[in-house]
Amino acid sequence: METGSTIVGLGRYVPERVITNRELARTIDTTDEWIRRHTGIRERRVAAPHEASSDLAYGAAREALEAAGAGPSDLDLIVAGTATPDMLFPSVSCLLQDRLGARSVGCLDVACACSSFVYGLSIAHGAIVSGQADTVLVVGADTLSRITNWRDRSTCVLFGDAAGAAVLRRAKPGSGFLSFALGGSGQGRHHLHLKAGGSRHPASRETVERGDHFLWMNGPEVYKVAVQTMPRAAADALRRARLVAEDVDFVIPHQANLRIIHSVSDRLGVPTEKFFINVQRYGNTSAASIPVALYEAVGAGRVSAGDVGVMVAFGAGYTWGACTIRWGGAA
Ligand code: UT7
Repeated sequence: METGSTIVGLGRYVPERVITNRELARTIDTTDEWIRRHTGIRERRVAAPHEASSDLAYGAAREALEAAGAGPSDLDLIVAGTATPDMLFPSVSCLLQDRLGARSVGCLDVACACSSFVYGLSIAHGAIVSGQADTVLVVGADTLSRITNWRDRSTCVLFGDAAGAAVLRRAKPGSGFLSFALGGSGQGRHHLHLKAGGSRHPASRETVERGDHFLWMNGPEVYKVAVQTMPRAAADALRRARLVAEDVDFVIPHQANLRIIHSVSDRLGVPTEKFFINVQRYGNTSAASIPVALYEAVGAGRVSAGDVGVMVAFGAGYTWGACTIRWGGAA
C-alpha cells in the first residue's frame, strides 16, 4: 500500500471518578480477586453525571490538536468512533465540530464498537491519500457506563469510560500507515448487542422493564472469537505491509481482557513485552481503548520515530481491524 498519512498529535481524556474492584464488590456478588484473575482489571473510570461521550471526545481532541500544533480551523474532516453517542442523532462528530469551533467540514461517526478507532484511522488515511483532506481528527470516545447494567456482574466489572484522539497529516514516503486490514461479521450480533432504542425495538416501558437498553454479552463466546480473530487480523495487516512478526517494535491491542492480550501475543508470535497494556487501570473503554493506550505508550517512551507498530481491535458486530504504522515521518 502506498504510504501517505501519519499521526502528528495524540490526546486523551479520562474522567476523574475511579471505581475499584473492591468498591464494586460492595454492591454486587464479585471479588477483586475474581476480576483480576479473569480480566486483569483493577479499576475503571466513570464519567460524571454531566459528561457525555462528546464531552470526553472534546477533551481528547483539544489535547491532540495542541500536540499536533494545529487549530480546529485546520481540520478538513472529523471522524468520531463511538457506540454511545450523546443521542441517536445528530452524531458526536457534529457535536464536536461545533464545540471545537471547527469549519463546516465533513463530520462522520463510525459505529464499529471497540474497532471504531482503527476503522476511523483507515477512513482518515484514505481521505488524506486521495487528496480529500490534509488534516483529519479521529476520536474514539465511549461512556459504556451509561449502557451497563450495574446489577449484572458478568458485564459491569469489565467496562470503563474514556476518550482518545489522533490528528493525521500527510507522511513522507515509507513512513506513517503502511497497511490496514478490516473485517466484520453480523453473526456476532447474537453474542454482543444492545437490543432496544433503535428502529427494531423502540424504547418503551416494556423494553426498559426487560433491561433491553443495557449492553448484553455472552462473554465466553466473544472471548473465543476475539482470541482467534485478533491475531489473524494483525497477521493480515503485517502481510499487506510485507512485514513479519520479528519486524514489530510495539503492539497496541484493544484492551478488553489481559488473558486475550496474552493469547494474541502467543498466536501472533510477538513477545508480550512489546504489547502496551493498561487494561488494569481503565477496563474495556471500547472505541477509546486503542487511542488511550497509544497515547500512554508514546508518553511512556515505548514508541520512537521509525518504530514499526501494530494496532489491533475486536468488538461488537462482530467487527475487527488492524493496521501497521512506521511511527513519525510527517511530510
Ligand atoms: O470488547 C470486545 C468484547 N469483549 C470482550 O472481548 C470480552 C470477552 N470475554 C471475556 O473477557 C470473558 O469471557 C469474561 C471476563 C467476560 C468472563 O470470564 P470467563 O473466564 O469466561 O468466565 P465465565 O463467564 O466462564 O464465568 C465463570 C464463572 C461463572 O460461574 P459458574 O457458572 O462457573 O458457577 C460466572 O457466573 O464466574 C462467574 N462470574 C463471576 N464471578 C464473580 C461471572 N462474572 C463474575 C464476577 N464475579 N464479576
